[in-house]
Amino acid sequence: MDFNKIKSDDMEYIANTYSRFDICIVGGKNATLVDSDGREVIDFTSGIGVNSLGISDDNWVQAISEQAARLQHISNIFYSEPAIKVAKALINATSFDKVFFANSGAEANEGAIKIARKRSFDKYGEGRSNIVTLKNSFHGRTITTLAATGQDVFHNFFHPFTQGFRYAQANCIDSLLEQIDESVCGVMIELIQGEGGVLPLEKSYVDEIVQICKERDLTLIVDEVQTGIGRTGKFLCCEHYGISPDIVTLAKGLGSGLPIGAILMADTVSSVLGAGSHATTFGGNPIASAGAFEVVKRVSDSNFLDDVAKKGDYIRERLSKLDGITSISGSGLMLGIELTDKNVAEVVADSIKAGALFLTAKSKLRLLPPLTISYEEIDKGLEVLEQVLNRKY
Ligand SMILES: Cc1ncc(COP(=O)(O)O)c(C=O)c1O
Repeated sequence: MDFNKIKSDDMEYIANTYSRFDICIVGGKNATLVDSDGREVIDFTSGIGVNSLGISDDNWVQAISEQAARLQHISNIFYSEPAIKVAKALINATSFDKVFFANSGAEANEGAIKIARKRSFDKYGEGRSNIVTLKNSFHGRTITTLAATGQDVFHNFFHPFTQGFRYAQANCIDSLLEQIDESVCGVMIELIQGEGGVLPLEKSYVDEIVQICKERDLTLIVDEVQTGIGRTGKFLCCEHYGISPDIVTLAKGLGSGLPIGAILMADTVSSVLGAGSHATTFGGNPIASAGAFEVVKRVSDSNFLDDVAKKGDYIRERLSKLDGITSISGSGLMLGIELTDKNVAEVVADSIKAGALFLTAKSKLRLLPPLTISYEEIDKGLEVLEQVLNRKY
């Protein structure tokens, strides 16, 4: 179909909640996408950190196709093997005790918030339900996860928001301590603030948070929706920090393109949600689980993770030789690039025309390519970026 027709139909029939770039992707292989005009573009977005195995990975396609032909859905009131398999693989790849499956990052975070509050209620009764999150964080778009998100820009229009969130300045322990009193039951953080601009927390700060949570019996939730599943070169970003929180939330890359979220629970919280206290119709859906099992099996392999780290280093090395870049943040294949004197949205738009897809994160250019991106694809994509950065506009 002609691109202009696609665009006008989209505007006519789909609610206007996204400002889209002028391209329609119709297929591809790994990190090489094909648009509606048959043109190839290199993908440094992976559907915002989702397509961890790239486009149309043979084993992933086989896993989900075979599952679709066998059983596409069954209610959580019955046992289901694909969900058990992926839960077992997640537990084996981490130090957690139990998994709850959701459908998205926001939903996983909602469940995590419920666990922190119920754990506190069960132990201490009412009046201890506040959760401290960080300024500049992002935790989702539901009313509760918007409230958890520490950015004023997300706290408009939809009042009343869920009560019970307080915000501390990232990397400032005094600011966190100011927010903690007898009414607080948990702390929720991203180890690298993704949407906030690919900003990593300092290790010493995270160590102090762990210590404070221990001393005050607060549930520590680490939102790894963007950083998890190999994205930073470790299976979980927590491993870079050497920490074992009570809860880690996952989504995005876990399904490599099918909607699935997960709440990983340590034994400190794994018995908090009893039968009837939490549920979701599609959670642990067999097809999404079959795809997630393929992802976890592949990504938890140490050689695969070493490759992610090496590719991240290779990209950094190449970027460091380009003009127009002030700094590079992030880890593995989650990178934020501060541009010296270019408007980031213009760079993204121009790169699309020149043959590569990039993301933004605040004023930075953000790279979240498929974890399987090849060196040849990296080279091609970065050549596009170089051309665009060298343009005078
Ligand atoms: C750290 C983090 N948490 C939560 C979310 C929300 O995930 P979803 O869009 O799947 O609800 C996102 C999405 O960007 C995220 O980056």
